[in-house]
Amino acid sequence: MINLLKKRILLGISGSIAVYKIFELIRCLKKKQAIVRIVMTRASKKLVNKLSLQILSNCRVFDDIFYTNNSNIMHIKLAKWADLILLAPATANIIAKIALGLADDLLSTICLTTQAKIIIVPSMNNYMYRSVVTQHNIKILRNRNILIWGPSFGRQICGDTGLGSMLSPNIIIKKLVQYFSTPLKNFNIIITAGPTHELIDPVRFISSYSSGKMGFSIAYVAASLGANITLISGPVNLSTPPGNIKRINVISALEMKQAVMNNINNQNIFIGCAAVSDYRISNFSSNKIAKKDNLIINLIKNPDIILEVSQLTKNRPYVVGFSAETNFIKENARKKLIEKKLNLICANNVSKNRFYNMNNNYNELYLIWNNGEMLLSLNKKQVLAKQLMKQIIIRYEKDNKY
Ligand code: PMT
Repeated sequence: MINLLKKRILLGISGSIAVYKIFELIRCLKKKQAIVRIVMTRASKKLVNKLSLQILSNCRVFDDIFYTNNSNIMHIKLAKWADLILLAPATANIIAKIALGLADDLLSTICLTTQAKIIIVPSMNNYMYRSVVTQHNIKILRNRNILIWGPSFGRQICGDTGLGSMLSPNIIIKKLVQYFSTPLKNFNIIITAGPTHELIDPVRFISSYSSGKMGFSIAYVAASLGANITLISGPVNLSTPPGNIKRINVISALEMKQAVMNNINNQNIFIGCAAVSDYRISNFSSNKIAKKDNLIINLIKNPDIILEVSQLTKNRPYVVGFSAETNFIKENARKKLIEKKLNLICANNVSKNRFYNMNNNYNELYLIWNNGEMLLSLNKKQVLAKQLMKQIIIRYEKDNKY
């Protein structure tokens, strides 16, 4: 199977000694029938000759920001031409420039202009890679949904051993093939997960048993299908799944709402899996409340986050809710589907006597939409998350939004 057939890949080469791997990378890209254009930085030309790269790769090589061709401004033309920009090897310098939005040579200017996905394959000395500044820059890029592939750990050309080497061409090709075969590529999805804590005083709170496992499993699956995930999580004891996942930790429902609204622009799908507390304490005490025979706590209603998302008039995403009930499971879920104006709802039974569901590795879900329903029967949450994402994609397509 020729999985990169006609994919237009702009390969940005910067000045790392790992540039010797580039010939093999280009050979593999061409074998997979990708169309490759190359942009070199000044430093990379010190390490590999432009002409030999052009002859050996049989690809057009660009390096001049002021080069124009029949009034085509090259950085704009190339930025629009590319399906994907692959920076390999990517030095600490080009990473810093992109993080800052600098545009002082052809490659950085293309990166600032392009709407295409940018993938960075770092290559540098391990101290340089681990430096606070480089890590800070990488974090900035990840938050912009730029993918960072690698680096790998090992003995480096400079003699050091550590994290900083460019991934091998084989691995890069495998990842590219996977990237292009991902149905949710360029999709932005917000997933809320876990419980919220509504503080009574500095040491006490109201919450639920939600562990975040269901939401985190969905985040993992959706990221592996290529989506850019914003995972907004209440207090849970889980590490962020691998993949393109930006995690935002929140405590209370109000914080969760703020995080959702701050990130809701340009989202394709919103999945509200969090067990958001319906109420918060109206008279939060900043000091620990002393023990009394009777303690009266006033509760006020929290905002309904998913309803606010559903009611967006501009750029409303496809909205998937969850429904946790102990009786009339499907009936109550269908009511919420309508009242909260959702596209799809996943109903689950949270009765205490069950060995699955909240704070457990297993679950069972009824998916309910406008004119249909289906059961995803008892299974591990990771498996259910896969089945659920498949159904979300199908339903999303049917709603003509995909
Ligand atoms: O975290 P786990 O241990 O893995 O457990 C998973 C789960 C049981 C928490 C999950 O499967 C689930 O059902 N999550 C939703 C729980 C819930 O709050 O259901 P609800 O019926 O109260 O709310 C309906 C929908 O409105 C949900 O999408 C919820 O996120 C949303 N909501 C609720 C209240 C509120 N103030 N704002 C909201 O957005």
